[in-house]
Amino acid sequence: MRSVPYVNLATQWAEERHVLAPAVEAALASGQWVGGPLVEQFEQAAETYCGVAHIIGVASGTDALILSLRALDIGPGDEVITPPNSFVASTAAIIFAGATPVFADVLPDQNMDPAAIERAITPRTKAIMPVHLTGRIAAMDAIMEIAGRHGLAVIEDAAQAMGARLNGRSAGAIGTVGCFSAHPLKNLNAMGDAGFVGTNDDALAARLRRLRNNGLMDRNTVVEWGVVSRLDNVQAAVLLHRLTGLDDVVAKRRHNAARYTERLNPAFVFVPPTEPGQFNAFHTFVVQVDRRDELQAYLTAKGIGTAIHYPIPIHLQPAAHSLGHGAGSFPVTEAQASRILSLPINQFLTDADIDTVADAINGFYA
Ligand SMILES: Cc1ncc(COP(=O)(O)O)c(C=O)c1O
Repeated sequence: MRSVPYVNLATQWAEERHVLAPAVEAALASGQWVGGPLVEQFEQAAETYCGVAHIIGVASGTDALILSLRALDIGPGDEVITPPNSFVASTAAIIFAGATPVFADVLPDQNMDPAAIERAITPRTKAIMPVHLTGRIAAMDAIMEIAGRHGLAVIEDAAQAMGARLNGRSAGAIGTVGCFSAHPLKNLNAMGDAGFVGTNDDALAARLRRLRNNGLMDRNTVVEWGVVSRLDNVQAAVLLHRLTGLDDVVAKRRHNAARYTERLNPAFVFVPPTEPGQFNAFHTFVVQVDRRDELQAYLTAKGIGTAIHYPIPIHLQPAAHSLGHGAGSFPVTEAQASRILSLPINQFLTDADIDTVADAINGFYA
């Protein structure tokens, strides 16, 4: 039986070793392990790639969100509207900033419903934090219009969306700030934790650069309290190289997604359609199906790796108990949580792998 792994980072290393081993060696030999030219080179290359004025490297996608909230002076007493179906970091960042997360339910494509955002706005709302889940950019035109009308900041959680575009604009370059993760499982991945923030706002960028570095304005002057959340040189060397191959990674994932869409039986498998103007990066390929758990067990037995992003909505997590949302609060998110399944989409899969997965799924329902 042909097994199909969900992720394949060992192959990525094997393919890139001849370039990355010397690049990492050079980064170490420079003796400058935190900050310095490699980090700046990566930031500049990412600015060009995303078409944004500033990219600020930080230690993780979670820190990118926390520092962005802080740089926007969002804290106690403020509300931030975000979806309940994201990775927990989106909501956790709002809580860590001292603010209150207010959830808005999602659309069939798993991204935030602008009408639900509008209904969630109160006099305390300071920002909207849409999440570009799966590498598909949320309805940013509507979200930016709502934000403009109500004077709200927009913090894009673009952790899953590096390489995605909407009407030609990059994820993370549309809102007030865009927060990216370069976690090993992301399309643009480091070899440890890493992240970055994008913004076109000069003052915000300067503040983010200080906040990630203990609030230091120069070597000896602290103008506000900050944290240590710097991108290190080894990760910058890795990211600098991988950024040059990102378009190929995204193209391969888009090819895999198109092949699945062509082959999966639409009578049993819902694949959210791509809207005009959307260029999806397919960090994940999430389908929605009946009998999801049975299907997952069936695929596992056949050696096909899958994942669920995410089985427990954030508002139903034990940590969210004090927010006071019971089951039934966000019906679309909750219905999807029991139906979503992430199929293998990584760039190392062959057409035969995709066909193996699609045939197995169609066979399960036949
Ligand atoms: C939607 C979303 N937000 C935030 C994060 C946090 O990123 P990191 O793991 O780099 O802290 C992730 C990554 O897992 C994510 O998927």
